[in-house]
Amino acid sequence: LDPDKTILRPELLDFHGVSMTHYFTDNWEAVQNFQARPDDILIATYPKAGTTWVSCILDLLYFGQTSPERQTSIPIHERVPFLEIFAPSVALVGTDQAEKLPTTPRLIKTHFPVQFVPKSFWEQNCRMVYVARNAKDNMVSYFHFDRMNTVQPEAGDWKDYFQRFIKGKLVFGSWYDHVSGWWEKKQTYSNIHYMFFEDLVEDTGREIDKLCSFLGLSPSAEVKKQITGEVQFDKMKKNSMANYSTVPVMDFKISPFMRKGKVGDWKNHFTVAQNEEFDEDYRKKMKDSTLQFRSEI
Ligand code: A3P
Repeated sequence: LDPDKTILRPELLDFHGVSMTHYFTDNWEAVQNFQARPDDILIATYPKAGTTWVSCILDLLYFGQTSPERQTSIPIHERVPFLEIFAPSVALVGTDQAEKLPTTPRLIKTHFPVQFVPKSFWEQNCRMVYVARNAKDNMVSYFHFDRMNTVQPEAGDWKDYFQRFIKGKLVFGSWYDHVSGWWEKKQTYSNIHYMFFEDLVEDTGREIDKLCSFLGLSPSAEVKKQITGEVQFDKMKKNSMANYSTVPVMDFKISPFMRKGKVGDWKNHFTVAQNEEFDEDYRKKMKDSTLQFRSEI
């Protein structure tokens, strides 16, 4: 990718107390100075919590009727730029992509913990959609992603990965801090819609309804039904404009981007001992939080 930094897997670095890689910190100044507009919508997640799913839903809600061809001609990562990504050697600079977006509203994705979000988003009172996923499935999904994505640090073996997740030593830091930080922010900043991956799996239509009322949209029942159909797992998995198959750094022979899309796949990965260790540590880390997750539905 970047000739200066080599195409090898990047090192994890400590950045203001959060584990990151250079791909998401090298453009820090420009990212922090990014000028948000009042109608921008920020889609924020810890990696693998359902970013692409919600991005497709929002893109369809806003542009599905006026520009249906977007769904079959523009990859989702171009329709919804990744704010902090910086790989200039392959012309991938999130801030530039966001600035060049021709449509309104601009849909912008970030994996930043809440304290890293550029200040103009708060000043402009932008709407933000946060998606959270239960820690166990989030960990499993991230493990397979790090195995197949050569611009992420090496995943290593599952046992080791499990420990790194608990310690927050993965790109974008601690899951616990991420989900809690955004949850706390929501208590004072009312323009955050906090969603759960498990709810989306349980009833996509209901979650689209809630999103619409947050966004102030009122699509017809027919349109909503159409969108719900478009964003079903099998449909998105087949759609090369949504499934990341156009991104060369990902090795789908190791694992596809659209892997399983399920709640509870952690049961196929966690040993009984790991599950006990995890639950005990989780209770300690999350004891002061009112956040409730479902690891099965
Ligand atoms: P799995 O690895 O568990 O399958 P992100 O977009 O944040 O990177 O998240 C990717 C995860 O969301 C993957 O989880 C992927 O399969 C799942 N996903 C994406 N679209 C989905 C959909 N329409 N329905 C269910 N899961 C979906």
